This record gives sequence, structure tokens and C-alpha cells, in this order.
Amino acid sequence: MTLSPLHHAIGVFDSGVGGLTVLQALRRRLPHRDFVYLGDTARVPYGRKPPEMVIEFATGIADFLCGFGVEGLVVACNTASAVALPALVERAPVPVWGVIDPGVEAATRVTHSGSVGVIGTKGTIGSGAYQRRLEARGLRPWSQACPMLVHVVEEGLAESPEAELLVRQYLSGRPEIDTLILGCTHYPLLRPVIQRAVGESVTLVDSAEVTAETVSANFERPPRVIELGRVTHFVTGDPLAFAHTAAVIGGVDGEIIPLPVAELAGETTRR
Ligand code: DGL
Repeated sequence: MTLSPLHHAIGVFDSGVGGLTVLQALRRRLPHRDFVYLGDTARVPYGRKPPEMVIEFATGIADFLCGFGVEGLVVACNTASAVALPALVERAPVPVWGVIDPGVEAATRVTHSGSVGVIGTKGTIGSGAYQRRLEARGLRPWSQACPMLVHVVEEGLAESPEAELLVRQYLSGRPEIDTLILGCTHYPLLRPVIQRAVGESVTLVDSAEVTAETVSANFERPPRVIELGRVTHFVTGDPLAFAHTAAVIGGVDGEIIPLPVAELAGETTRR
């Protein structure tokens, strides 16, 4: 796969479109950079898959993106960050950032009571990645896997009565919390529904902005941006469906290239 030369590119990937919110935040801070985004829409959702499988997917994607000479890699997927980050850090020849630490950092900044909720996929919550980090900061985590919510968003039902019902059900067992981490790329799209369910006294945090803040601190920004960087999107599923779903979160700015999953052979497939 050849692209016209990239200019100080950064690789970003997610299981689907949700990671575009992280990409948008990164572009606001590093507008002069090129980005290569990979949405693994053919294999979404990652949230229900065994960790070993997600690690395999993630390492294959990391190898693919590193093949373009990217200068850093952002894992804009909570599930992949939760289970695959150590493997990626060990394997990639460039710095790798996930979204879990930034999400925890964001929650730490806003909580007053120290009681912090986190919701995510089964994979993310089952890994304990958020809970361990919150506890390490002296906070008291409450966690809940919400496996149905990804489908609700994917089906364009984020504002529906069904979404309202599911969110209320998932959150019904929560203790008194003052902060709730939206630990899944899809949940920011359910923000109004989740906010209504928990009430205004609970602050909702997602990791997009803090991830961008963390990543951009590692790269220089020229005093003047003369030309905006370019974004190339690779998608393993249907490019039209990707563009359509992406429209809900501000759309895609840049080329979309279909990519057969076979080009993303991961570590175990290569053995
Ligand atoms: N991107 C995933 C995450 O943030 C959500 C969708 C999926 O299950 O793949 O956990």
C-alpha cells in the first residue's frame, strides 16, 4: 500500500468510527500534522471478544500503521487500550498512547468526593484497567459493563426511548458518585441520555481531550500553521457505512481507503 509522502504523521486506530472524536481533538492541537486513521469496522465490536483476539487485531494494526513511518501511535479504543497496550508498547518502534490513563486523569481532575464511576464494554470493565488506575490514585471506583450500548449507537438509536431504558437499567445499581467516565468510544454519543439518567450533579468525562493533550505535549507545534495536515482513513468494512456513521460525530475530513482485513495479520497469525 503506497500513499503520497506523509508529513510527520501520527497513527490513530479504533475498532470503528468512535475514535474519530480522539482524532478531532488531536487535530485541534496538532493541525500541521498528517494523521493515518484506521477504523477496523469489519471486526467491530472488540468489546465482546477475548483479550487474546483483541491483542492480535491491535498488533496487526500497529504494524500496518508503523509501516507508514508514523511518529507515534494512539490507541483510540478503550477495549484495545485496556487489554493490548503493554503488547503494543513492547512491539511498536514509536511511542504508543492509550485512552485509559487520560480518562483517569480527566476524572481525577474533576472529582471532589473521590467516588468515580466508569462504564465500558465487557472487555474494558473485565480487564480492571480503569479500576486499578483509579484505586492507585486513591479514588473509589464503581464499574459497570454496558454491552448493549455500542449496538444502540451503531443502529442510530442514541436518542431513542430504548437507549434511555438501557442506560437507566445499567446505571441503576450505582452508589453515590460525582464523576462518571465514559470508558467507550461510543458513549460520548449517548451523553445527553446518560446525563439525564445520572442527573446534573454527576460530571461526565471522556478521554478525547485529555488524550490529545497528553499526546500533543510530546510533539512540537510550529508558531504558525501554514498548511493543515492531511488525514488518510483506512477502513476494513464498508467505507460508505463508515462515512455515514461518522457524520453523527462531525464527519470525515480526508480520504477513505478500503483495506482488506487480510492485510492486518497480527502476531499470532504470523507465527
Ligand atoms: N471502540 C470500542 C471501545 O472503545 C467500542 C466498540 C467495540 O466494542 O469495539 O471500547
